[in-house]
Amino acid sequence: MLENNTNKDERRAKRYACKSRISIKGFEGFAVLKDINADGVCIMSKTYVTIAPQDALTVRISPESSSGVKAFDVQVEVRWIKSSPTLFMAGFLIKEKKESNLFQQYIDCLTGKRPAGTSSPPSNKVFQWSDALATGNEQIDAEHKQLIQALNNFFAVCSVHSSGDAMQKTINFLLDYTVKHFYNEEQLQLRYKYPGYNNHKAFHENFKKNVHSLMVEFINKGPSDELLKRAKHDIGEVIIAHIQHEDTRLAAHIRGQQS
Ligand SMILES: [Fe+2]
Repeated sequence: MLENNTNKDERRAKRYACKSRISIKGFEGFAVLKDINADGVCIMSKTYVTIAPQDALTVRISPESSSGVKAFDVQVEVRWIKSSPTLFMAGFLIKEKKESNLFQQYIDCLTGKRPAGTSSPPSNKVFQWSDALATGNEQIDAEHKQLIQALNNFFAVCSVHSSGDAMQKTINFLLDYTVKHFYNEEQLQLRYKYPGYNNHKAFHENFKKNVHSLMVEFINKGPSDELLKRAKHDIGEVIIAHIQHEDTRLAAHIRGQQS
């Protein structure tokens, strides 16, 4: 019994309220979002909204501008409705977070995990995708964008003193994605008989080793200015240069083979 109460208190402690602009089935205006969390939300408004239990709806949430989080859609199911002449309340089960990253950012903002006013990735968006990095090969470019995003996420996590778990998660993704992307690129090289395969693969192997050993240092020592500086150069700048030169050459070779 005691344990149940404790769990209930813990759950309650993780719920937050805020006032946001929402758009839901014809209603558009400010409402209090109460008990907002990853699984559900309760909406309180002075305006009656015509909805019924079990309706599946899309709620557009436009967080207050000070949060720095852009508007996002959430797919919900109506669980309950209460109304009085002055107040309309409804509880929703969150079925799908369409722009889950923005939803999570907002919750992080409400819970103080993310400073208000920062857009994501926070202040440390170190590397930016631009046309200068486009090789012209759709698959390679899509994977490079993802890789740059993974890098930025890693640096962002390092800059906001996130938990060890959060850092471990971004590191795991970065390592896994690097391996996956290099493998895919190498498969393309074999398929299109790329003459620079051996040198290119040697670069990949060396890069993977460097990333791995740097990440081990991050896990063991935590992020320091010195380590971050090395990572920005040895991982970020090195891979950007590789994309601009080696990968661009590879994409041109593939185009030549396809035409
Ligand atoms: Fe490459």
